[in-house]
Amino acid sequence: MIKNTQKATPKDGQGFIDVLVGLQWGDEGKGKNIDELLSSGIYSGVARFQGGANAGHTLKWGDKTFIGHIIPSGCLHPEVELYVGNGVVVDVISLVKEIKELKNLGFDILPRLYISNRAKLVSYLHPFLDQAEESYRSKGGNKIGTTSRGIGPSYADSRARRGLLMGDINFSDFEQKEKNLSELHMNILDMYKEKYGFEIDEEKIKEAKAKWFEAINEIKKLNICDLSFLIQQKLNEGKNILAEGAQGIMLDIDFGDYPNVTSSNILPANVCLGLGIPNNAIRDIYGVMKAYTTKVGGGDFPARIKDPEIENLFQVSGSEYGATTGRPRMCGWLDLFALRYAIGLSGVNKIFINKADICPTDKIEVVTGYEIDGKVIEEFPLRLNQVTGVKTEKILGWGNSNYGVSDVKKVSSALIDYLNYLKNKLSDLNVKIVTVGTGPDRTHFFELDK
Ligand code: GDP
Ligand code: IMO
Ligand code: MG
Repeated sequence: MIKNTQKATPKDGQGFIDVLVGLQWGDEGKGKNIDELLSSGIYSGVARFQGGANAGHTLKWGDKTFIGHIIPSGCLHPEVELYVGNGVVVDVISLVKEIKELKNLGFDILPRLYISNRAKLVSYLHPFLDQAEESYRSKGGNKIGTTSRGIGPSYADSRARRGLLMGDINFSDFEQKEKNLSELHMNILDMYKEKYGFEIDEEKIKEAKAKWFEAINEIKKLNICDLSFLIQQKLNEGKNILAEGAQGIMLDIDFGDYPNVTSSNILPANVCLGLGIPNNAIRDIYGVMKAYTTKVGGGDFPARIKDPEIENLFQVSGSEYGATTGRPRMCGWLDLFALRYAIGLSGVNKIFINKADICPTDKIEVVTGYEIDGKVIEEFPLRLNQVTGVKTEKILGWGNSNYGVSDVKKVSSALIDYLNYLKNKLSDLNVKIVTVGTGPDRTHFFELDK
């Protein structure tokens, strides 16, 4: 028998990768927490490894706001490099727009932005295909409620091995490849038109095409490189990198409520594949959650607050409107059953809680379990529409009085009670709550169990 006692650990002096992922249905406040983690000064770069411009990560400082869709949330730190990995589907129009927006805000990020030559290009017809697929699905009443950013069709083309890669733009066959793909896309759109009555807006397609080619020209001046090689070099130099997740684990293509999910894997396991780095480079896994739950798009949401007036109170006081689409987010009680599922899948060991300044009702509920036909279930269900009820615990709310508090000593006792309640509910898991968000500004948080 072969005895192998040698563990695959990084060599001495090697840098590490920490990961941050959303633990719910997205919009947990990941952008703000990435910015917060980067201020520790231990990371030389921040990397997106999946998703695309469906993400909307908000950064607020003073009276300024930036919402990143493709650009990683490290733009406020001039010394931090920004990486877009091979696992990302890149919307070049959004990318160019964000670069310009940042320039207007005083950040020239071009010299520190690196994009993998293996990242996938979202074509100008992908958003139209996304809409056509949604229109087709809506006939059966199964609309996913996508962000219309062409995410599904881009990943589908990538898996079908006909997609365009970022690096392709510098090859002489790019024009031909693009033409072939667009021809196929137009045929598919025509099929949706003929068979399912999807309306094609020729004028909009023309506009999108012109904008897309303009953006392709612009991005030729970017650092498009073998990012996996670059990151491995950085790790070898002892530098550390933060991997920035988009969406939330409940939207993971394999472990979410399929098909009401996005088209990528959100789990930290995908960091290695989405950046091209070895598993043993990963150190801490941070998870972000809100003190309650929100969700945008289709599919069931068992923890949704049943009373529309109370849901609306959370929506309004929490400004729960999508950073990418502006759609109102559905609001639910904190869902501990889903949260424990997400922690189990991801191995999160450190948690950020946001929106602890928002609790517009005296009494709240916390979902502790799901029921199917009156029976409390142990395993997370394959389909959320199987769930016939939820088990909740009714506890006191923590009020709206903690806005902007950054010192744990100044936190209201009601909020401390809620945080202790949560700690107790998660005490059998290897997690600690590191910081708690009390407002949208980068300074609005306090440390708990650092
Ligand atoms: P992300 O997609 O996870 O980065 O989150 P989004 O940016 O889509 O949504 C989070 C929203 O909540 C943004 O408007 C943030 O400015 C805001 N936010 C983040 N943390 C807090 C917090 O602790 N309290 C409040 N009131 N707002 C927060
Ligand atoms: P961030 O990174 C919240 C949701 C959409 C839809 C489903 C599929 O800001 O947390 P897609 O366009 O990906 O095909 O849509 O996923 N969704 C998000 N919800 N936050 C996001 O990103 C999301 N990205 C996608 O609403 O239900
Ligand atoms: Mg968002």
